[in-house]
Amino acid sequence: MPGISLGIDLGTSNVTIYVPGKGVVLREPSVIAVDSINDKMIACGKEAFEMLGRTPDSIRAIRPLYKGVISEYEYAEQMLRTFVRRVCAYKIIKPRVAVSIPSEVTGVEQRSVVEAVLAAGTRHVVLIEEPVAAALGAGISIDQPYGSMVVNVGSGTTDIAVLSLKGIAASQSIRLGGDDIDAAIVRYLHNQLNHIIGLQTAEQIKITIGEALTGDKDKTISVKGRNAVSGLPCLQKVSAAQISEAISEPVKAIISAIQRVLESTPPELAGDIMTAGITLTGGGVQLGGLPEAISRFTGVDCRIADNPSDCVAVGTGEMLKRSGAIYSGVYNIGQFSYPLSDSARL
Ligand SMILES: Nc1ncnc2c1ncn2[C@@H]1O[C@H](COP(=O)(O)OP(=O)(O)O)[C@@H](O)[C@H]1O
Ligand SMILES: [Mg+2]
Repeated sequence: MPGISLGIDLGTSNVTIYVPGKGVVLREPSVIAVDSINDKMIACGKEAFEMLGRTPDSIRAIRPLYKGVISEYEYAEQMLRTFVRRVCAYKIIKPRVAVSIPSEVTGVEQRSVVEAVLAAGTRHVVLIEEPVAAALGAGISIDQPYGSMVVNVGSGTTDIAVLSLKGIAASQSIRLGGDDIDAAIVRYLHNQLNHIIGLQTAEQIKITIGEALTGDKDKTISVKGRNAVSGLPCLQKVSAAQISEAISEPVKAIISAIQRVLESTPPELAGDIMTAGITLTGGGVQLGGLPEAISRFTGVDCRIADNPSDCVAVGTGEMLKRSGAIYSGVYNIGQFSYPLSDSARL
């Protein structure tokens, strides 16, 4: 097959690109900064991320994806074009691409991903459901007649699936992820401690002392922010126990969704999962104590995959190697009924 192949994990907070045989070649925040007057791109990726929440009126920093789907089409296309060019500089033939999507997105949402990726300078696009890609990237052999469960916690969505014989036997995608945990921390600090912080500060708190089960009340950090009453900048001491209380609702929602999928899993496959355990992928699974919390409430062992943030991109790229086979949950471009230009086909 001529030309380069790319596996793209088009995540709400990060875009990861994997090239089979080479590894992960790009990992950048899904953010683009544009000039507010003429809409021209100023920065993309890491550089644009630094500008989030800090831009003057003349610049807008935008996240073009929301909850795993494209919310700002033009900016998503521009961002993808920049990333694809960075990876494929000096290549004459446009790349073939596999892109992951959450498992419960609408046809319109799928179509906008295909069109944005093609417009970004690629020539063939395959969409792959996130849990299938995550499983493959985590090293699970999905062709076997054994059930395996994968839970991918991203920033906007959590995808849970039971896979067997290349297909999805039971699944659920909830539009809740790491971003909702950050938002819960912002709300708690405002409502309980009169302390106003931004989402990026909340994410730092989560990464530093976040704990899914009960956190240590003696483990504290000082958080910069603004007092809601005086309006002045100040420092506020926060304990890991308070953060556990703050994030308990979104954590419970993730665990309940896993329980629902387990309940709807055919008994033979449920037995396999009891033996093999649950594999966790995605950046959000690194929340302190999350595997233990899931195990405690489901009774099933959990393990975090190696390099959990890369699994989806790796699996997406590896799937391209096997694209001769049509997997359940994999959409080949030929299956799309809307018109595509000839150059968009293989
Ligand atoms: N050490 C950590 N602890 C808790 N959450 C983390 C950690 N590292 C990253 N995250 C969270 O993981 C999420 C991003 O995961 P990722 O899989 O890249 O998301 P997406 O695919 O939606 O872009 C963010 O919500 C981020 O805050
Ligand atoms: Mg993801």
